[in-house]
Amino acid sequence: MDKKVTVVGAGNVGETTAQRLAEKELCDVVLVDVVEGMPQGKALDLSEAAPIEKHDARISGANDYDISEGSDIIIITAGIARKPGMSRDDLISTNAGIVKIVTQEACKLSPKAIIIVVSNPLDAMCQVAYETSGFPKQRVIGMAGVLDSARFRTFIAMELNVSVENTHAFVLGGHGDTMVPLPRYSTVAGIPITELLPKDRIDALVKRTANGGAEIVSLLKTGSAYYAPASAAVEMAQAILMDKKKILPCAAYLEGEYGIHNLFVGVPVKLGRRGVEEIIQVKLTEKEHAALHKSAEAVRQLVNSLQTT
Ligand SMILES: NC(=O)c1ccc[n+]([C@@H]2O[C@H](COP(=O)([O-])OP(=O)(O)OC[C@H]3O[C@@H](n4cnc5c(N)ncnc54)[C@H](O)[C@@H]3O)[C@@H](O)[C@H]2O)c1
Repeated sequence: MDKKVTVVGAGNVGETTAQRLAEKELCDVVLVDVVEGMPQGKALDLSEAAPIEKHDARISGANDYDISEGSDIIIITAGIARKPGMSRDDLISTNAGIVKIVTQEACKLSPKAIIIVVSNPLDAMCQVAYETSGFPKQRVIGMAGVLDSARFRTFIAMELNVSVENTHAFVLGGHGDTMVPLPRYSTVAGIPITELLPKDRIDALVKRTANGGAEIVSLLKTGSAYYAPASAAVEMAQAILMDKKKILPCAAYLEGEYGIHNLFVGVPVKLGRRGVEEIIQVKLTEKEHAALHKSAEAVRQLVNSLQTT
């Protein structure tokens, strides 16, 4: 492959991301993790599946960053995941330290890469990666909205018994309890769901979406979701690697867009070869605007708490 993606953290999200990237033949993949032998073992296992899965992506694993040199994209999934009863915000102090170290190490050898942050709490970890890397804002992007809107789309399809492929959904804001799913902009075959479902059903789907991560954590008990998160990270990587100019909801650094300053918050962006190529600003009602600002305020408090520790 002529592209290289490094996935830092070879745990549940990282290994599944590596698998999907390779099976789609998007790039060669480097898996990096601190656990000795583990990324090497997973990379070898994934490589041995290649003849059956019919792809020629090279997958390698390491405990340091040497083989990651010159990566086009660095996907950061390193850190701890939440357990039942924990919120994403409870992970902040441990994961901030981890994200800082891995950003420093990975960016040294791949100074032109685009960073996709997955580790939680997502929006605050984007801020850590942005400040640590010194990369321009277009090259640091957080994965959350693609996952949150995929969850919303799944629930809409289940409710209306239609193909998931007919659904589009729109989620703004931070990746937390204050996220802002927008039913007005969520459609089935182009028809807004507000014309297809009564308000109480939409409210229930919105609530389930906002609680989507916790629902899986409470079922799994030993970790958090990873199949859908990996799919979401790969959709973003694919848009960048193939310069698709795809509009996806991502955490992007805002400098006045939506009236929000100097903060990573989930908004629709155009993803292409240069990373975030445009931030799309849609018209919001007063209520939606207020909900977005409430969500941004929660992100800002979390970021501020990092700066005081
Ligand atoms: N943004 C989202 O929507 C979203 C979705 C799912 C998970 N997540 C987050 O992604 C992260 C990973 O989740 P997971 O389920 O894969 O967890 P996991 O515990 O399975 O994997 C995390 C991996 O990171 C590794 N790691 C820790 N410190 C490291 C370091 N300094 N360098 C390299 N690797 C290191 C660990 O050894 C482990 O293998 C968590 O923070 C989780 O909350 C985010």
